[in-house]
Amino acid sequence: MTFKITPWEVTGKVDYDKLIKEFGLQPLQNLPKQFNNCSLFRRKIVFAHRDFKRISEAIENKKPFAMMTGLMPSGKFHFGHKMVADQIIFYQSLGAKIYLAVADLEAYNSRNPDMKELRKTAIKEYLTNYLALGLKLKNCEFYFQSHRSKDGVKSNAYYSLANMLARHATFNEFKAIYGEITPGKMSSGLLQAADMLHAQLPEFEGKSLPVVVPVGVDQDPHLRLARDISQRIKVFKFIQLSSTYHRFIPGLKSGKMSSSDPTSYIALTDNPEETAKKIRKYAFSGGQPTLEEHRKKGGNPEIDVSFQMLKYGLEPDDKKLEQIKEEYESGKMLSGELKEILIEKMNQFLKEHNKQKIKANKVVEKLESSGEI
Ligand code: TRP
Repeated sequence: MTFKITPWEVTGKVDYDKLIKEFGLQPLQNLPKQFNNCSLFRRKIVFAHRDFKRISEAIENKKPFAMMTGLMPSGKFHFGHKMVADQIIFYQSLGAKIYLAVADLEAYNSRNPDMKELRKTAIKEYLTNYLALGLKLKNCEFYFQSHRSKDGVKSNAYYSLANMLARHATFNEFKAIYGEITPGKMSSGLLQAADMLHAQLPEFEGKSLPVVVPVGVDQDPHLRLARDISQRIKVFKFIQLSSTYHRFIPGLKSGKMSSSDPTSYIALTDNPEETAKKIRKYAFSGGQPTLEEHRKKGGNPEIDVSFQMLKYGLEPDDKKLEQIKEEYESGKMLSGELKEILIEKMNQFLKEHNKQKIKANKVVEKLESSGEI
């Protein structure tokens, strides 16, 4: 089975162990004890890193650090996006300064040239859901690549950095890191490097500091580029970037969770009836074809999307999750029963989330009308 993974395309079944070796990542282990509070780390959904020790030390020594990540606004906010949001909010709870980039320029150059629509999606889908999930605006810089800051001094520093980095990369390096390369991809890679590095400029945090970039493993090429050139540019003293990598949450039908196919995901705006219908109809099952066979051989939770959704966060209790796993594997629990557990958990979550979204909408409306975003 072959798979392909680049920042703009993921196909095939991803072999994470192989990726660790190929990309030269480190498995994530020996984390500070606080990380036990986050199921994504406990369950090794965030599974690998580069230079994470610097972040562990900052946390243990109560030293300042930042967390930076970005999003390409595309369609509905679904559980794949929630997984990133959960990490951001967790880092904020640990005291990290949060930098969040809306990659509208990257999206313009790689998939959707409608800047107005990108902006609307970023605000109505992403920002609103982040806030509803618990992101605080304090200690958080949410910005658009196309509008870094109303403060000209800050904006100048960010766009200058993106351009100056170009001097320190070669065309061959771009080809080696990205494979097929276009001017748009080149520009996106450099701008993303500026996203990841600019917190350390005098105009932003005012000093070099550790920055962790949590991303899907497809984004590692951007990190390799940014890490390499950050150490060559001598006008700034950048502390080397840290990064963590999470697994991709499986789509409903197994395969990819993709904003462009509504039957591949549950959106955080889906209503209870729609959700139940989608899960019953589409959720890929790891069960056996007949009842008799299922009782005898049991189900396979590794490929069962309902089980995986519970594991990716909808069942936060490890003991309960383990019990479901055992019952399913032994054949005692049927695929349909597992789906009903997921539906129940999902609807509980969506009910609460919708309440929070009403509040978040108000906050976002205020930000918009005051011109803050
Ligand atoms: N390229 C990222 C994506 O496709 C978005 C992004 C832009 C980003 N800037 C970033 C991610 C900085 C991490 C850090 O989703």
